[in-house]
Amino acid sequence: MFVLDESIFRYDLGGILRLLSRVDSFVAHTPGHCLRFAAFGLALMSECGDFELWGRVPAGALWLAFQLHDVGKIAVPWVFLAEKRRLTEEEREMVERHTEFGEAVLRFLREREHFGHLASPLGGLETRIGLRLAQEVALYHHENWDGSGYPRGLRERSIPFLARVARVADVVDALLFPRGYRGGGWRPEKVLIFLQRGRGKLFDPEVAQTAQRLLAPILAAACPECPSSACPLVSTRAQS
Ligand SMILES: [Fe+2]
Ligand SMILES: [Fe+2]
Repeated sequence: MFVLDESIFRYDLGGILRLLSRVDSFVAHTPGHCLRFAAFGLALMSECGDFELWGRVPAGALWLAFQLHDVGKIAVPWVFLAEKRRLTEEEREMVERHTEFGEAVLRFLREREHFGHLASPLGGLETRIGLRLAQEVALYHHENWDGSGYPRGLRERSIPFLARVARVADVVDALLFPRGYRGGGWRPEKVLIFLQRGRGKLFDPEVAQTAQRLLAPILAAACPECPSSACPLVSTRAQS
C-alpha cells in the first residue's frame, strides 16, 4: 500500500503553498490552474448554493479552500504527474491518492496551527476555517454526482457542496487551458457542450447550469467568429 511520506509535515502552510505552485507550474504542466480554479470557484459560489449559509463564511477562507484542492499532489511521485505516456492502473491509483494525502496534510496543518507567517495576513480564524473547508474539497473534489468518482464513490448531495462546485471548476479549467501534451485547450463551445452533457453524471446539475450561464457570455466574447450552427454561444451572441 502506497503511504504518505511524513517528511511532508515539516512544511508550514506557506511552504506547502510554494511547493504546490512549483508542482502546478513545472511538474504537472498546469501553470495557474489552482489560482484560476479558486477565482472561478468563488464566482460559482456567489451564484448558487445556500446564501444564508455561505454568505457568512469569509471569502479568504473559501479562496484558501479552493486554492488548496490539489495540495495532495505534492505528496505523490512527481514523475507520474509529469509522465507523457498513459499511466498504468497502479500508477493512476497512486496519483488518485492525492485526494486522501491532501486531506491528511491539511488536517495536520490545521490541528498543529502550522501556519507560519500566513496566519497574520489572513487572520488565524480565517486560516483555520479555510483549512477545515479545504480538507473537504481536497478529499472529495473528484467525486461525481452519479457515484462514479473517487476516492469514496459518494453520490449526489452526500458529496459536500464545496466539492461539487470544485468538480465543475476543476473540469472547466482542465478543458479550457492547454496542459502540455495532456490535452486541454478546447474550443469554448465544446466546453459548454461538455458541461451540458455532464449534468447529472459528472456534475451537480444546478452547479453545472450556473457554470454554463456564467461562462457563455465570457466565452462568446473570446470566440466571436465561430461559424458552427451547433454552437451554444450563437444564441448568447444573438441576445447581446
Ligand atoms: Fe485533483
Ligand atoms: Fe485540480
